Amino acid sequence: MSFYGVPEGRRVTMRDLAEATRRGEKWPMITAYDAMTARIFDEAGIPALLVGDSAAMVVYGHDSTLPVTVDELIPLVMAVVRGSSRALVVGDLPFGSYQSSPSQALQTAAAFMKAGAHAVKLEGGAPMLPQVEALANAGIPVIGHLGLTPQSVNLLGGYRVQGRGEAGENLLRDAKSMEAAGACAVVLEVVPAELAARVSEVLTIPTIGIGAGSDTDAQVLVWQDLLGLSPQVPKFVKRYADMRSIMAEAVTAWSADVVSGAYPAPEHAYT
Ligand code: KIV
Repeated sequence: MSFYGVPEGRRVTMRDLAEATRRGEKWPMITAYDAMTARIFDEAGIPALLVGDSAAMVVYGHDSTLPVTVDELIPLVMAVVRGSSRALVVGDLPFGSYQSSPSQALQTAAAFMKAGAHAVKLEGGAPMLPQVEALANAGIPVIGHLGLTPQSVNLLGGYRVQGRGEAGENLLRDAKSMEAAGACAVVLEVVPAELAARVSEVLTIPTIGIGAGSDTDAQVLVWQDLLGLSPQVPKFVKRYADMRSIMAEAVTAWSADVVSGAYPAPEHAYT
């Protein structure tokens, strides 16, 4: 399996992904929250796994990303690192764990790096530049996240498209400032495709789109959305499987077999 020209036996780095972008090669990133799925995605050749704060919703059952804590995400980072061997693992800094100061961001990011993450991601534009600079200066690859930033859903008034009209210029300016502050990539979430294309054209670091059209350098999705486990998905998601039905049908069949006595059969028993 080709890993972006990365030799056998070592993981992909942010530098490898930046080089892939410079060569004009697009690359995928997918979320992962446990060792078993991390291994499947790693073996499928996905070069970057994101332990997203979306874990708040898809793992812990909250209705937004806000409640998840550092202590809840760190064990998931460790599991994803253990389950993978080639992919870069990115840890998402949770709401409230980095906004107050660059030193708070550094302390939290250091905890993620000690847990095995190879890069971290944080949300927000201009106000987060000192945080981005502090992490980059400390040698931590940091990915910015602009556009629809789910940790600000209460301020944004819902999960809606960002960067239309005038706001697009602000986003472009923030993206350039992120790069200048030392960010190694920028996620662009739910912004007009034309704006994402402009940002991708102007930046030299990779842009990673989610609901941002086809002209970003990379694409990221929550795996439960991509594979059809989530009950509802936003318009930008294309489902590549229907895991929800597959799992429901299988467990219903097993349950019926348990009730009827058809399972376990003699071949499932020990003598
Ligand atoms: O938490 C997450 O999964 C994310 C991606 C959707 C970009 O931030």
